[in-house]
Amino acid sequence: MKDTIQVGLLGLGTVGTGVIEILHNNKESIKHKTGCEVKVKKALVHDLHKDRNLPGDSVELTDKYEDITDDPEIDVIVEVMGGVEHTLNVLLGAIENKKHIVSANKDLVAEHGEALFDAAVRNQTDLYYEASVAGGIPIIRSIVDGLSSDNIRKMMGIVNGTTNYILTKMSQDGSDFDEVLKEAQELGFAEADPTADVDGLDAARKMTILSILGFSMPTRLEDVKLKGIRGMSTADIDYADKLGYAIKLIGIAEHDEEGISLSVEPSLLPKSHPLSNVNDEYNAVYVYGDAVGETMFYGPGAGKGPTATAIVSDLIAVVKNIQLGTTGNNYVHPQHDRKLKSKADTYTKKYIRLHVLDQPGILMELTRVFAEKDISFDQIIQQPADSHEERELMMVTHSVNEEAFESAMEALEQLPSVRSVDSVFRVEGGDN
Ligand code: NAP
Ligand code: HSE
Repeated sequence: MKDTIQVGLLGLGTVGTGVIEILHNNKESIKHKTGCEVKVKKALVHDLHKDRNLPGDSVELTDKYEDITDDPEIDVIVEVMGGVEHTLNVLLGAIENKKHIVSANKDLVAEHGEALFDAAVRNQTDLYYEASVAGGIPIIRSIVDGLSSDNIRKMMGIVNGTTNYILTKMSQDGSDFDEVLKEAQELGFAEADPTADVDGLDAARKMTILSILGFSMPTRLEDVKLKGIRGMSTADIDYADKLGYAIKLIGIAEHDEEGISLSVEPSLLPKSHPLSNVNDEYNAVYVYGDAVGETMFYGPGAGKGPTATAIVSDLIAVVKNIQLGTTGNNYVHPQHDRKLKSKADTYTKKYIRLHVLDQPGILMELTRVFAEKDISFDQIIQQPADSHEERELMMVTHSVNEEAFESAMEALEQLPSVRSVDSVFRVEGGDN
């Protein structure tokens, strides 16, 4: 048993600073849980001269990662710097040096998880990444441990704090998209390059990680049907509200006999749906299993404290494994081959907003295009548009086949009476 386990931090920004704070504030309870002191020896940064204002013992700063990955006194590396290709090489080198890894990097785990785990298994080292999905919610542990006895069929969630913060402020205060994005960046929720948040890629990476674990299938990032919230108009938020819905960026992973389907897209949720009341930077993940039925996990999805909590909990798990001599056992190869569901097997409800000419018989013309594809409507609202010659229509379909819907939309866009199709969103929950 060691008296002290030394840690190297790769990155000392929002999350890295939070890790130091939690290790300092909870020093005694962490010692009690692990039987040793857990100390950060060194941290990798870009800027050696920035004022870090860290509590507790001093931490040696370096701008050379080898100072950490090659240091024989360091047992565990906490990667909180972000990046993909360079970071992968740094971590693969560290694993070959028998370092255990804790990472918050969903970009890396979603794209190169297999390579990292292969290296970790070969070197009998640990690799934990709870903070990579849904910040402070222990969703990975819940799926891998808590629900491991069940067959998970569906996972659906709000897994990006930045976009949920933006949509909340747009709908509650009528705030401007760019202004709220800036706020989310200042609050430390957004990625260094926030396009990954806004365009849905961050959420897609998280849903990929969840689906690999939940369905025990080697799904890939490119399997996710992806649409972000860029260009989201307050008009859609207001109309959705009138129709009884909230708009959220929702990730959905489903598994049945035909295979799996994965998507991240802005979706309308009935206001009575539990996910529609998840606001600000909060995340929530709904998990449905054959035996357990419906479960729901809720909590802060981004930010210093919540993310650092997940990392330090992983760190405690690694330290316990080191003390017990049980490292290198936290990976199970996916059981099933990758099998994706085709569009022809996928059914969802849709919301469409469009501008049409204000002429008699237009509605009949539109509904005929949909009827030919066996698509019918649940709700239709019609109202005057800015131009006197046009009307604006909001339509919500019943559950439709994705392939048939795409072909109906192509036909619709050809109609001379249709001036513009402004938005198309998925509708989730409620009656079919
Ligand atoms: P951040 O505030 O931008 O911090 C990044 C840190 O890494 C900085 O200290 C930076 O140094 C250092 N760094 C980055 N690349 C480096 C390089 N090549 N060489 C040396 N130092 C380098 O980022 P963050 O918000 O803490 O996020 C870190 C990771 O956690 C990312 O993978 C992110 O996706 C993930 N994550 C973040 C959150 C969140 O809410 N923020 C939540 C979950 C997961 P300087 O300080 O000198 O610039
Ligand atoms: N940028 C991410 C988000 C951080 O907003 O959810 C947490 O992964």
